[in-house]
Amino acid sequence: MRIELLSIFPDFFAGPLDEGIIRRARQAGILEIGIRSSRDHAEGPHRMTDDRPYGGGEGMVMKPEPLAACVRACLAYGLENEARRVVLMSPRGGVFSQAKAREYAGLDRLVLVCGRYEGVDERFCERYVDEECSIGDYVLSGGELAALVITDAVCRLLPGALGCADSAARDSFSRSLLKHGQYTRPPVFEGLEVPEV
Ligand code: ADE
Repeated sequence: MRIELLSIFPDFFAGPLDEGIIRRARQAGILEIGIRSSRDHAEGPHRMTDDRPYGGGEGMVMKPEPLAACVRACLAYGLENEARRVVLMSPRGGVFSQAKAREYAGLDRLVLVCGRYEGVDERFCERYVDEECSIGDYVLSGGELAALVITDAVCRLLPGALGCADSAARDSFSRSLLKHGQYTRPPVFEGLEVPEV
């Protein structure tokens, strides 16, 4: 599977994608990650990716052309007939869940578009976005953290990504149950004993 992350802050992703399970999955060729800067697709001497909103008001709106060109670049190669989805990170989208993670994990290519500022020009959404996704009912400064959350949840569902083959299936949320408390050594910690089986 390949996940493309589109942002005007591509450096945001460096640490989290280079650690733990995601790093192992990338090294094993289970997950490919593409990090793309929509600024690379912006025109003009200042490569502007945002502009003032029509109708006035606070904040800036992300321009449609750099985002559109960036998404086109993401989709310009790859197998024909591959299963793809372009998802905009947005607090107005449906709330991400384990069921959504499983749905995304079944795709060949997932393009996660990170919005910033007051929003994204609606025409980009109309033309290029399949769905909008939120990671919860609160407003973040941008979609980057949301894209990382989704990447992590999807990655661990890919066959072979976890050390123990069935641990994703046994996971609390997959069974709609929360795990009981877990214990490891030592048998007594600060006077507290590991309970009997
Ligand atoms: N961008 C800003 N807030 C967000 C949220 N809650 N989920 C996804 N993307 C966002």
